[in-house]
Amino acid sequence: MTATYQFAGITDAQKLGAYYVQDAARLMNRLSYSYYRLMRIGAGQLPARVNWHFKAGVARHLYEDSQARAELADRVAELRAPQAKQQPKAPDPWLEVLFDELLMARSDYELYAGIYEVIRPELKRIVDLYMERTQPLVDYPTVRVLKRVRLDLEEQISWGQSIAPVLQEDAAYFRSRPETGIAADDADSAAPFVAHLRELLAKIGGLDGAAMAEVGDVPDRRRSTAAFEVVKKAVRDPRMGGETLGRTGVANPPEDPVLAPVVKNARTRQEELGAAELCAATLYLQDNMPWSFYADMARHCWDEMRHTLFGQAVLDSAGYDWFSMPQFKGDYDPHMKKPVASAYVWLSIGIEGSAMKKDAMPKESRDLRALADKTGDPFVTFFAQCVDYDWADEVTHHQYGRKWAEDLIGDYHTSEMIAHHEMKLNLIRMAEDTYTYWADKPDSHNKQLHLREWASYHTPEMLAFLAANG
Ligand SMILES: [Fe+2]
Ligand SMILES: [Fe+2]
Repeated sequence: MTATYQFAGITDAQKLGAYYVQDAARLMNRLSYSYYRLMRIGAGQLPARVNWHFKAGVARHLYEDSQARAELADRVAELRAPQAKQQPKAPDPWLEVLFDELLMARSDYELYAGIYEVIRPELKRIVDLYMERTQPLVDYPTVRVLKRVRLDLEEQISWGQSIAPVLQEDAAYFRSRPETGIAADDADSAAPFVAHLRELLAKIGGLDGAAMAEVGDVPDRRRSTAAFEVVKKAVRDPRMGGETLGRTGVANPPEDPVLAPVVKNARTRQEELGAAELCAATLYLQDNMPWSFYADMARHCWDEMRHTLFGQAVLDSAGYDWFSMPQFKGDYDPHMKKPVASAYVWLSIGIEGSAMKKDAMPKESRDLRALADKTGDPFVTFFAQCVDYDWADEVTHHQYGRKWAEDLIGDYHTSEMIAHHEMKLNLIRMAEDTYTYWADKPDSHNKQLHLREWASYHTPEMLAFLAANG
């Protein structure tokens, strides 16, 4: 044993490690590929998943997976395998089939069990084993990456354990209501799917490929003989208050005219889930882009999910009911009828570009801050902080649009034209559904607030434009 102060605090600096560079590169490449696949599976599945909290966790973790993939691939490239930074290829057909099968999970519970009971614990096992066996001084850069990866895995697995009983309860609920059309699994009905994933892993001795499959043995595809399809309509929990392309506010709006627009805008944040799902669909569906595009999409997806959660957190903190209200899907469903490239430029260049204008987010943020300072109301203060950070995120998102528009569409000018055309259509759709929703509601300050905002898009000319352009 060496003293703690020696070797820069690296303990066991003189021990013999188990891996030469080639071994380390091989193992880290398998981890990197696994994270790449997990990121894509989360993205492809996100719009189809049902449980509100499960969706949120999937979005966070697909971002963390993209980060892990990036750091691991960089490390592999340093280990005399520079090709690792490119689009990953499956290092082993068994791994490819394993993740192809996981992608085909048909319910929240199957996806949960595959990711949080099979894959992540297996990743944790490999990381723990590697950390124990590698030479900590010579292989310090790998250890550094894996420390962070391990921390994320611990949190992810423990979150999985906490949501499992919730998903089991959901399964019981949806089974008793087949009219909802929600595919539901619990631990029993998901067992064959989980067992198949475990069998595939067992054949190669784990994700690290510690054993060779027997000669002539080939991985068994069961569900992944058909192509996976990203849903064209985002799924919302049927226990919520239905679906809409309009703005419906909260069930218990405040009478106070100063507070009412703040609550209305907080609700709009809670409705950004569709934007997160659109980024996820773009990540999954847009082929042949450089790795950094997918990393940006993963971040963009998680940011929009965070904004959604900002809205939830703020509304919940003051007891405003959003869950029983119609859920907004205007950021997803209408755009999935078109190529995702045009949907993504609509979001990043149209919506997020407009949000950068002086009278948009910068003003909203400044006004909220002033109101928070004046009133000291914790609800307003919390929301003012959310919007301030939201604005910072939007700057980054608009930069993604500027960065990728040419690759996606061909040239920036055409992207802008598509973005503005789609934005106009979307605003008219929103106005139409907003007016429809409020039509039979008794007159109130809140109703007028909503209708006033959309009046300029609810004219005969605008509706005719929508009818002609779809
Ligand atoms: Fe956002
Ligand atoms: Fe955004």
